[in-house]
Amino acid sequence: MARVVDPVQKGLVVELGPGTGSLTEELLATGLAPDRLVLVEKNRRFCDILRERYPRVRIIHGGAEALHDLLADVDLWSTGGAQAVVSGLPLLSMLRETQEAILTQSHDLLSVEGRFVQFTYSLGAPASRAAIAKAGFQGRRVAHVWSNLPPAWVWYLEPAMAFAISPGESRSRAPASEIATEPVDRRQLA
Ligand SMILES: C[S@@+](CC[C@H](N)C(=O)[O-])C[C@H]1O[C@@H](n2cnc3c(N)ncnc32)[C@H](O)[C@@H]1O
Repeated sequence: MARVVDPVQKGLVVELGPGTGSLTEELLATGLAPDRLVLVEKNRRFCDILRERYPRVRIIHGGAEALHDLLADVDLWSTGGAQAVVSGLPLLSMLRETQEAILTQSHDLLSVEGRFVQFTYSLGAPASRAAIAKAGFQGRRVAHVWSNLPPAWVWYLEPAMAFAISPGESRSRAPASEIATEPVDRRQLA
């Protein structure tokens, strides 16, 4: 999951549901500067542990379904949006509306090249397919981690239509309602 991070690429990395920080450790091991990582964790006790473990990382206590409000004071846009949202959340066991809220708000804070990364033990998608599509993402499996118990899949969810460009216009995301459901080769759009 941590391979999504490019420490030299601009943009913050947001980790949802970091628990006590084992994935956080891997994200920092990529060389990502601690002040470019933001953790959002619902469990207050875990937040205390994380603050002790990672004093230079920004740790926000709250539920990821309120991501927009929780990140209101975080400067995401001077670097063009987050390069990745890395999720340790048990998305599939959440209500579909909650999944949709988390995915939609994550989509909105990603840079045009950004990715939402999720692991799952399921053989299918890592969240409700309807929620993924409604949030404006398309998903693809990128790795199977046999060494995990139980074995897990890692998925990337990427903006289905990353951005629309016409000469002289700035890049902007297409609204979710206008997003194609067919896979899009993002290199053709760049
Ligand atoms: C499976 S654990 C993640 C473990 C973590 N990756 C680690 O390596 O320690 C899921 C975490 O998500 C947190 N969580 C659950 N629902 C959440 C929500 N809505 N918003 C933020 N965190 C949440 C839980 O408190 C828990 O720490």
